[in-house]
Amino acid sequence: MNKDIKSDKLKANRRQILKAGLIGGASLLVPWQLKLNPAFAGESPALDHFVDELPIPRAFQPTSTLGTTKNFHVQMAEVEQFLHRDMPPTTIWGYGDVHGISTPGPSFVANEGDNIVVNWVNNLASSPDAGHYLKIDPSALIHEPGRGIHGAEDSRKAVVHLHGGHIPAAVDGDPEATILPGSEVLYDYPIRQQAATLWYHDHALGNTRLNVYMGLAGAFVVRDKNEDDMIAYGNLPAPEHEIPLVLQDRIVKENGKLSYDKKFDDMFLGDVMVVNGKIWPYLNVEQRKYRFRVLNGSNSRAYTLQLPDNRPFYQIGTDGGFLPHPVTLTELTLTPGERADIIIDFSQFNGGDDVVLTNTAPPMFGHPGEEKEKDINDVIQFRVQFGEVEADIELLHDLVPGGEIEQISQDGAVSRDFKLDDVADPDLGSRWEINGLGYNDITEYVAPGAVETWTFINKSSHLHPMHLHLVQFQVLSRFKKDEDTFIDLGVDDNEMGWKDTVRVGKKEIVTVIAQFPDDPELFGNFPYHCHILEHEDHEMMRQFVLG
Ligand code: C2O
Ligand code: CU
Ligand code: CU
Repeated sequence: MNKDIKSDKLKANRRQILKAGLIGGASLLVPWQLKLNPAFAGESPALDHFVDELPIPRAFQPTSTLGTTKNFHVQMAEVEQFLHRDMPPTTIWGYGDVHGISTPGPSFVANEGDNIVVNWVNNLASSPDAGHYLKIDPSALIHEPGRGIHGAEDSRKAVVHLHGGHIPAAVDGDPEATILPGSEVLYDYPIRQQAATLWYHDHALGNTRLNVYMGLAGAFVVRDKNEDDMIAYGNLPAPEHEIPLVLQDRIVKENGKLSYDKKFDDMFLGDVMVVNGKIWPYLNVEQRKYRFRVLNGSNSRAYTLQLPDNRPFYQIGTDGGFLPHPVTLTELTLTPGERADIIIDFSQFNGGDDVVLTNTAPPMFGHPGEEKEKDINDVIQFRVQFGEVEADIELLHDLVPGGEIEQISQDGAVSRDFKLDDVADPDLGSRWEINGLGYNDITEYVAPGAVETWTFINKSSHLHPMHLHLVQFQVLSRFKKDEDTFIDLGVDDNEMGWKDTVRVGKKEIVTVIAQFPDDPELFGNFPYHCHILEHEDHEMMRQFVLG
């Protein structure tokens, strides 16, 4: 890692956090002007695009290190953060440490083989029974069997999940393993997986959509020898040209407060784009290749990302690791929970160019109906700098040793079907479920070491990004049911790698295959669910038991 550049960025970030922390009583000194545009149909005030620089989350520093064991002390807390130059500060929930709290939280950077030991502390309130910051729809809070939202509470309970982690059930972040304000847990994550962009986020049963919306999410990067070698030999951008992009849509009120409609709906759509905790930011780039780890951390929104004039870019990695070869794309669709490791070559642009990465996915992507006023077109602006670039990197054709990812054999695989559908609900109107069963109705008992194919049958006209904890799977097929015929949509080139979240579009039937581990240390219960957080909270989340 290039220390100089990193620490500069770290300083800039720390300054922002300090500024946010100091604002409390001095908020009148901040020169913000809100421009209200009457033609604007969204709920957030009209805000200038590309006036704030993209923050790069700093990396967490261990409090102590012993061999490959690294200890961290991380707290969750409510702080104020500036989301936009012309807005008052926003109250958010973030992760952090003595150097500050932010959303997204600082990134974890681990090596394969490390043991990352985190003391997670809930400091979201001074009292364990403090109510949530957001107002919760009372119909979500009816606690009778089959009513309301299972687990929903007007509280600041939290649970931390490492999404994409091949980790023991005991530290996976069981949605019922509640950490109340004032409490803490110690999670020891043995990192036994290849280089990938994982992420950590809140997973409290029935409250996940609200806790993540408040800001409880961050990147967790795993590195390995293959990646280190590619960086060392100039085949991947060095870490100073490697940038996480955490995409989240939000609604902010004029007073800076985050808004989440009190009425429980089965999806949330924001009207401003927040990238790494700033609304519509810009980033200065040199005329060279950059690596972006793009994470869709939104509650419900899917994105289709494009460069101007359909310029190409390359995807090199999926949720769980490198693709065998770079895949050339002119558009990239990411549904909630999915990640893509991409390379954009800015040498195809000129110094002085402002290159805007846009989103062309309609807000109701894969859903019936349209909500035109909730379109978000701009994502981030890259400002291409003048000046010569010293040697740029040269991307390899083979990103993994041998240029191949071994296909999991289907011989003897156990197969299971999961019907994705909604059922009528007296309080919510309708409720999303998997096979019509709830979180505590356990029917998937997986044998240690088993190979299983899971088929998601989406009977609805809504998109469901399906996510499994613990394993990285391979996508085998995607069909669409049209009346009585099945159309083979095939698997996209950029899905031919390790995935933990897969897009299941309306009326689609998607089959994935996974090899479950046989290591008893990992055994236990693991959730699988739709990663539209509103659906997950509905109880489109169940558990499988390994071992
Ligand atoms: Cu990203 Cu079960 O979660
Ligand atoms: Cu997960
Ligand atoms: Cu869903």
